[in-house]
Amino acid sequence: MNSRIPQAFIDRVLERTDLVDLIDRRVKLKHSGRNYTACCPFHQERTPSFTVSREKQFYYCFGCSASGNAISFLMEYEQQSFIDALRQLASPLGMELPRAEEVVSDETTALYAAIAAACQFYRQQLRQHPQRQRAIDYLQGRGLSGDIARDFGLGYAPPGWDHLARQDWSAAQRQALIDCGLILPRKSGPGFYDAMRDRVIFPIRDARGRCIGLGGRVLNDDKPKYLNSPESAIFHKGQELYGLYEARQHGKLTRLLVVEGYMDVIALAQHGLHFAVATLGTATTPQHIERLLRQTPEILFCFDGDDAGRRAAWKAVQACLPLVNDGQRIAFMFLEQGEDPDSLVRRIGAGGFATRMEGAQGLADFLFAHQSADLQLQRLEDKAQLAQRVQSLLTPMPPSIYRQLLEQRLRDITGLEAAAPPEPAKPPPPGPAPMRRTPRALPNARHGLCDKALRLLMLNPQLASRLHPPDLDDCGLAHWPLLRAVLDMLLAHPQMSTAGLLGAWHGSSEGEELAALAAQEFLLTASMAEGEIEDIDIALRRTGLEHQLKRLTEAVQEQPSRERLEQQWRLRHEIEQLRRRRPPQPTG
Ligand code: UTP
Ligand code: MN
Repeated sequence: MNSRIPQAFIDRVLERTDLVDLIDRRVKLKHSGRNYTACCPFHQERTPSFTVSREKQFYYCFGCSASGNAISFLMEYEQQSFIDALRQLASPLGMELPRAEEVVSDETTALYAAIAAACQFYRQQLRQHPQRQRAIDYLQGRGLSGDIARDFGLGYAPPGWDHLARQDWSAAQRQALIDCGLILPRKSGPGFYDAMRDRVIFPIRDARGRCIGLGGRVLNDDKPKYLNSPESAIFHKGQELYGLYEARQHGKLTRLLVVEGYMDVIALAQHGLHFAVATLGTATTPQHIERLLRQTPEILFCFDGDDAGRRAAWKAVQACLPLVNDGQRIAFMFLEQGEDPDSLVRRIGAGGFATRMEGAQGLADFLFAHQSADLQLQRLEDKAQLAQRVQSLLTPMPPSIYRQLLEQRLRDITGLEAAAPPEPAKPPPPGPAPMRRTPRALPNARHGLCDKALRLLMLNPQLASRLHPPDLDDCGLAHWPLLRAVLDMLLAHPQMSTAGLLGAWHGSSEGEELAALAAQEFLLTASMAEGEIEDIDIALRRTGLEHQLKRLTEAVQEQPSRERLEQQWRLRHEIEQLRRRRPPQPTG
């Protein structure tokens, strides 16, 4: 890694590059589950063990351990220097490599601040602007109380061209407002104008409650009905779920209901149903599903009953299948023509709505119904057709009891026995193969505590702030210094991604270890990161204390003192308290 290039610039290039496209243009990739595979370009092989994750933007070869992000791929595949690879990625994005002496302040920090200031401004207008009554009447007309408007931070962009633009912004703030699409340069003449005019404002918050974008709805029948602020470095519509932060504020989630609109989420909350989230005008993506399943094991999708609704539901099924695991439940409810969750809950109330949710169709039922809708299953050909369709849907699923049950059901319907097992892999070709890397075994699957923490952090860098490890140079754990270094890196760069982390350690033996850990976590297990991180935190703290206690006990044996004995007692007490909180046994 070249330290003269600001990390924020590298992160931005990686964020805007798609590794799958990049590699696919050079090495043809095949879709396989939630990943892509190919025969590894870095060593000779006949069966593909080179794996690329679009979601996490990294590649890993199970044969030779080649690994990394978009930058390292170009470096290795095209034998380029770091700077040249970075430049090759940056220039089609219209990004120029910053000069060495330029110190770039963290751009994303400015974006967060700008959106927060704009949301606050709009909230204030809902309380103060002379024309606010129109917006208040509109919200009341839709059955919303002041409390709900406050919980969701609703605001009002008054009519007029430059209420936001003419506030007293610094040049940097103005630039950030432009970057997140809230003000635009005038087409004729100098100056700026507001994107949101005479609209109710819905702030979109990330899981931590920071405003990252906003939506605005007209008060009448004008078009477009909703304007959403554009994607930016901090706002990615394919990942965010409107209302998730607000739902989590309401205590432990046992289920989530996915709906289509802002107003659906808010109307359900108004009726006491505080577990609805909305995708932001996009189809459900695998990233959405991953996030949803990390929050709760039960997800209900609510769609319109028309063709468009069924198509949208089918997209959700396809995104779910590779990710769903035992113990999770996914179901679908379809509404009548012309109805949406907002109108339905207002018509039949929370109780009626809850009853409708009970009747939701399970994933398996929907899958088989959808796939056989155009078939006549008493016909042999159609049975074969169904078997083929369903088989190809199940292939990307991880092995699970749930998958076995689906396969069983397919056999029950079609009367077909299980497909023959795949042929054994062919032996390697005779003769020496040109090898640039030596195949290496995967690290031992029995993970130590630090490895476990590293695996989670590699794929969920945003969890770094949830770990409070002991402030010790050594605490008797393997990989402790590496974990410490990764944590320090993430605390200094909170926006860093998996790809960014891999880049930072690229070319070192630690880098190989990190990539292998990330690959194991991502490709072999579906983790419940949010839940695990706390266990790991406690186990780490406990291990640190136990290490201190051991040292202290040795010191006491050499030379006891009142002070040492007191501290010994304190440490024992702290360890005992941590032990009571959670059961995990530190290993390794
Ligand atoms: P709908 O048209 O179903 O709106 O769009 P709605 O939620 O029922 O809105 P109300 O009840 O009339 O206020 C569903 C979602 O699609 C996106 C928005 O995210 C909206 O919540 N959308 C819709 C847009 O982004 N732009 C539009 O012009 C319309
Ligand atoms: Mn509606």
